[in-house]
Amino acid sequence: SLPVLYHSNDDSFLVIAHRGASAQYPENTMPAFKGAVEMEAEMIELDVMMSSDGVPVVFHDARLDDHSDGKGLLKDYTLRELRTLDVGSWFSEQYRGEKMPTLEEAIEFASGKIALNIEIKTEAVSDELHGGVEEKSLELVKKYGMEDHVIFSSFDYRALEHLKKLDPAIPVALLYNRSESENMSPLELVRKYGVDAFNCSYNQFKKKWSRELKEHNIPHFIYTVDQPRRMRRLLSAEVSGIFTNKPDLLKEVATEF
Ligand code: G3P
Repeated sequence: SLPVLYHSNDDSFLVIAHRGASAQYPENTMPAFKGAVEMEAEMIELDVMMSSDGVPVVFHDARLDDHSDGKGLLKDYTLRELRTLDVGSWFSEQYRGEKMPTLEEAIEFASGKIALNIEIKTEAVSDELHGGVEEKSLELVKKYGMEDHVIFSSFDYRALEHLKKLDPAIPVALLYNRSESENMSPLELVRKYGVDAFNCSYNQFKKKWSRELKEHNIPHFIYTVDQPRRMRRLLSAEVSGIFTNKPDLLKEVATEF
């Protein structure tokens, strides 16, 4: 099953805002998520990490250094400490003081407005001290009635299996990772891990995969594509959706295609 969209085009090709509308706003922040809704993306992709006191937060990197004014590993900081950081000014002065969203805040915002692709980062899955990033994330999704409007994904296949065990009905996508895939085809991987969809980078994607997945009705989504020429190549392969930092541009290209 795939997420039910709040507003969708007819052929249900998904414009997915990668970390929100992150070409125009700092990635994985509330302004980037609001931007994605304004640009009428069908879905927002965001990344989940765990604070040292076991709260799921939205941030991509294991280290704080590049996308906040913090230093070192995110997992060494409590939620309280993380919330004092500035996650906006690395992008532009205009966003100085922007706070790291909790997963709860992001889900609450999206509910009733836009579907979510919640990517569980490997670092959060391997958190021995707290664990349970899958349980906690799923619980939040259910708290806001978003279970029909999300798809989970991870490069860590343990997380995919764990989510399916917790709730076989929750949509899950496998993030393709060549080194873990032992020459298996996308279809074989999807079957092996019992997932609903296949996500893959533009550089690794092969057109023939698309044909095979389509024959078996398996949705497949490609990241991260900001160039019109590449968008058109994927549209002609009839992929199910594209992750982009520029949802406004992808909307335009898809409409003209
Ligand atoms: O989830 C799609 C894409 O964002 C995966 O790559 O490195 O951004 O987590 P990454």
